[in-house]
Amino acid sequence: MTNLADRLIPDFDLSARNTLALRARSRFGLLVDGPDLLPELFEHATAQGLPVRILGGGSNVVLAPNFDGITALLATFGRKIAGETADHTLIEVASGETWHDLVVWTIEQGSGGIENLALIPGTVGAAPVQNIGAYGAELADVFHTLTAFDRQSGSIVTFDRTACAFAYRDSVFKQQPDRYVVLTVRLALPKAWQPNLGFAGLSELADAADLSPRTVMDRVIALRTSKLPDWRLTPNAGSFFQNPIVPHEAAAPILAEFPAAPNYPQANDRTKLSAGWLIEQSGLKGFRMGPVGISERHALVVVNHGGAEQADVAALADHVKDTVLNRFGIALHEEPIFL
Ligand code: EPU
Repeated sequence: MTNLADRLIPDFDLSARNTLALRARSRFGLLVDGPDLLPELFEHATAQGLPVRILGGGSNVVLAPNFDGITALLATFGRKIAGETADHTLIEVASGETWHDLVVWTIEQGSGGIENLALIPGTVGAAPVQNIGAYGAELADVFHTLTAFDRQSGSIVTFDRTACAFAYRDSVFKQQPDRYVVLTVRLALPKAWQPNLGFAGLSELADAADLSPRTVMDRVIALRTSKLPDWRLTPNAGSFFQNPIVPHEAAAPILAEFPAAPNYPQANDRTKLSAGWLIEQSGLKGFRMGPVGISERHALVVVNHGGAEQADVAALADHVKDTVLNRFGIALHEEPIFL
């Protein structure tokens, strides 16, 4: 067995490993190519007094310029049809796989079910952490089980959907960020495909003669490409704020002033408002602050115009939150994780 210390990469540059392209370095980097390395990694880190953080595709993080610890990147690959039930095909995927490649692969295998989640950046292992969602679908809808390394017990544990405590952009893994390392994810894709076309921009497809998982995926790709800036050209971390879910009374004055404001009724007398709409109405679409700004294309997206660090992003996020709070009385919350 190679000594773990020999595999640590000193002064590891992470600027090309986060989609916001923030200047970021880690005292050590480590490519984790299999779960066997994890017990050794955490033992070594504890012995050396070094914190460990796990990074997937780096698409939902705001990295600090210097991390005085070990940044471990999951580099585990593989996807397979793992079995079937009466109604579902079970797909098992390693954490390091790219989410969008998985979407394309399942469609090539003839399985629909995750086509609405096409083009979401990031890895498969990161998908359950924030229960990725788009176009009326979320990971929880097709989730079967996952395995994760539990740092507390030092063993590999299996989670079913209930144990994951999925909610809007949330899960037990997001709530306890230092505890679990997701290793494999199993999806249950329905054998009898039902298109999910409720979202604006997809409903027109309902009458298409060639309606299939692939045509829906192609439409989702076209929609995302037209609305959201591409992080390869304009570095960003997707939606920067969650859509706020507020009591009806907090939404009422806004809807009285703007009857057409996007709003989606929820359980327990609550309403989901659109953070992008609130930010645009606050006059911040295209707003710039130093090297960062709000995208001119979508008010929910923070972009790095070049050379930004975590503090620049934090200052802009605070400005947006203060402005929206003063204008509408609504508190916004960041979606990416500051690491
Ligand atoms: N809007 C504006 N101005 C803007 C952007 C949007 O007024 O600049 C309004 C639009 O009029 C629209 C409403 O906001 O009525 C919603 O916009 P959109 O359909 O673009 O969706 P979103 O709520 O802003 C969510 C997800 C996205 C996901 C899309 C599509 C969150 C935080 N974001 O955005 O997820 O792709 O729906 O389903 O839930 C991500 O998480 O990184 C992400 C991109």
